[in-house]
Amino acid sequence: SEVEKGGWPSFMDKEIHEDPSAVADTLLGRFDAKGDIALDEVHIDEEVFRSIDKIIVVACGTASYAGMVAKYAIEHWVRIPVEVELAHEFRYRDPILTHRTLVVAISQSGETMDTLMALRHAREQGSRVLAICNTQGSSIPRESDAVLYTHAGPEIAVASTKAFLAQIVAAYMLGLYLAQVKGTMFADEIRQIVGQLKAMPAKIQWVLDHQADQVEQAARRLSGARSFLFLGRHVGYPVAMEGALKLKEIAYTFTEGFAAGELKHGPIALVEEGEPVVVIVPSSHGRDTLHNKVISGIEEVKARGAFTIAVAEEGDPDAERYADVVFWRPACPTLLSPLVDVVPLQLLAMDMAQIKGLDVDKPRNLAKSVTVE
Ligand code: G6P
Repeated sequence: SEVEKGGWPSFMDKEIHEDPSAVADTLLGRFDAKGDIALDEVHIDEEVFRSIDKIIVVACGTASYAGMVAKYAIEHWVRIPVEVELAHEFRYRDPILTHRTLVVAISQSGETMDTLMALRHAREQGSRVLAICNTQGSSIPRESDAVLYTHAGPEIAVASTKAFLAQIVAAYMLGLYLAQVKGTMFADEIRQIVGQLKAMPAKIQWVLDHQADQVEQAARRLSGARSFLFLGRHVGYPVAMEGALKLKEIAYTFTEGFAAGELKHGPIALVEEGEPVVVIVPSSHGRDTLHNKVISGIEEVKARGAFTIAVAEEGDPDAERYADVVFWRPACPTLLSPLVDVVPLQLLAMDMAQIKGLDVDKPRNLAKSVTVE
């Protein structure tokens, strides 16, 4: 298996470095000659897609955070409600499901029992289920009405990395396709976003090439920290949740991810002298108010002694001024920013685990796919 690692010290290291190709490969083959989105592998009639009036994403762990990211984009583009539910909570609350509800089951392995039981329940209620899955022929796509495969390649490390990016891309392709068939966006708007998506692998590569040293230095400095808080807003919120999950999964650090706006409603009470707080900063173009609010969150935790780490767009003068450390990422549209913002957080968790001498690929108590309820 040293050979399978292809020279990388761990599968996780190898797989994080496959983030760019996971995004590129998941975009491949999804367009017709005219450049319109053609999800040929999804055998659901256009007519049926046009009738969909609600989406419910069911998933667990990292896949559920990909679903949360997708909610922001799909609601904005398609103007239908998107709910995201942890698969194990779903059927016990008697969810409202009709034949016009599309349930999207997101799973890397395709074998997570909680997710499988949720989709069975949805189909029993007459809803259609579309799987977003990384594993050909696994149980979840086999039992779904349709499947959109992510092409991240096999993921071996227990903590999911490249599959998360591929899941976001696949969910975005679904959203853009729905916008196309429902006519909620102009064809050239869709094309513009597709063009921006195609530019993301190079931006992810830039983060890997130019920020890894900075992340490692921060990991060395913070490896003794008792706890970490992660804050984000809008699509940065699920990214904060994912960053917190990665660090607790493999470095066994007590972490919590919060919506940045919630800070004053509780989490700020946790901030202590020297405790690290990671903040996902939205770009300053276009959404100034959001950017400024997140920056003032940094000021608030810093005033209470926190050691602040910002993930911010290259050249953001406020991030530079207020944060103790900045992990930079290239400029990109807000809705696509999770694809770059999550990368330094994946590296941070891996570096922290390595520095602590832990098994990066096989953390204690966890399984790659949980095939029991
Ligand atoms: C386990 C893994 C996580 C993963 C989750 C969902 O808890 O340790 O990394 O996110 O299952 O797995 P799935 O295969 O359904 O995406």
